[in-house]
Amino acid sequence: MTPITSIADLQELARRRVPKMFYDYADSGSYTEGTYRDNTDAFGRHKLRQRVAVNIDNRSLKTSMVGREVAMPVALAPVGMTGMQHADGEIAAALAAEAAGVPFTLSTMSVCSIEAVAEATTKPFWFQLYVMRDRGFIEALIKRAYAANCEALVLTLDLQILAQRHKDVKNGLSAPPKPTLANILNVGTKPRWLWNMAQTKNRTFGNIVGHAQGVQDMSSLSDWTSEQFDQSLDWSSIEWVKQRWDRKLILKGINDVEDAKIAADIGADAIIVSNHGGRQLDGAAAPIDLLAKIVDAVGDRIEVHLGSGIRSGQDIFKAIAIGAKSTYIGRAYIYGLGAMGQAGVTAALDVIRKELDVTMALCGESNIKDVGRHNLLDFEDRTNR
Ligand SMILES: Cc1cc2nc3c(=O)[nH]c(=O)nc-3n(C[C@H](O)[C@H](O)[C@H](O)COP(=O)(O)O)c2cc1C
Repeated sequence: MTPITSIADLQELARRRVPKMFYDYADSGSYTEGTYRDNTDAFGRHKLRQRVAVNIDNRSLKTSMVGREVAMPVALAPVGMTGMQHADGEIAAALAAEAAGVPFTLSTMSVCSIEAVAEATTKPFWFQLYVMRDRGFIEALIKRAYAANCEALVLTLDLQILAQRHKDVKNGLSAPPKPTLANILNVGTKPRWLWNMAQTKNRTFGNIVGHAQGVQDMSSLSDWTSEQFDQSLDWSSIEWVKQRWDRKLILKGINDVEDAKIAADIGADAIIVSNHGGRQLDGAAAPIDLLAKIVDAVGDRIEVHLGSGIRSGQDIFKAIAIGAKSTYIGRAYIYGLGAMGQAGVTAALDVIRKELDVTMALCGESNIKDVGRHNLLDFEDRTNR
């Protein structure tokens, strides 16, 4: 096999190996996909400042996220239906994250349940929560995450209503896929995926089916979301969650300075500047372009993390340089998973770690904790003016 040199290589392999419905589910944004494209393009607009003749021996990428030591400033973002990209995908990704020394975040909408992931892993993972109308179910879900020793709750705030992704509608996205002629023909061309999927019992939404009252069929994810997700979610609902969770709380999907200030006021441990990977508000700005103002407003009171659009270690370096404490990758590891299962997630993390390390070195830094705005060309120019 030709060597994996970049996340793009893994993406191409995933495109060939994962059934179209699930590959498209990952590689799509809402409506025009303008924000989806801009999330990655925006990184290209931030330029790095190269320094030479600096001793760059003995480099370290180690840092921390909400009190947890991490081998590099990266966590795996919560991704729904990860177990449809590859059999037992959540377990495979969690194991790869453990080995790489970075946190794994399990989605509420995962295929493998909280309990299944806890049983198969040895280190605590994080749990992402969507707040639903059935508060009894949410209360039980929080307790399940607590009992599974999850260290942090990642509360997602930007998906109480689902923006449309055209491909999902056209493909009739469901888990497991419906036995339509188009699906049978397509899945027939993915023997590796099919073989692995035949070996597992985890084929639907493990946190929900059998747990939420009256929910047996969630095959239409979009219908289910519009029925169940609580559109009345506001800051008082976040307080409600906080009262039920005394470990670390991370608020995901904050893109505005005013919202960031409220998040800091209520005592959350971190915010994630993220637009759900361009899957929700089409027309929103790329998080990397919003980061500086948010860091300046609340960075001394709360950890500011960044997700959306990251496809390389260079991207991560830029986020850290602007002021993020750490970052999350979504598709970058999902493509690895679809390409080669656990080994593919490991490959994605390896690619990113090496890119980050070399980028840091070429900018004349040997410790990620020393990286800052002085490493960015435009920020340096601005401060010199
Ligand atoms: C296929 C897919 C499913 C996702 N599912 C969830 C989810 O269940 N919960 C959540 O909070 N975010 C979800 N996200 C958003 C990710 O957590 C993350 O914010 C996003 O992927 C970051 O952008 P990137 O993919 O460009 O790195 C999903 C993203 C993708 C691509």
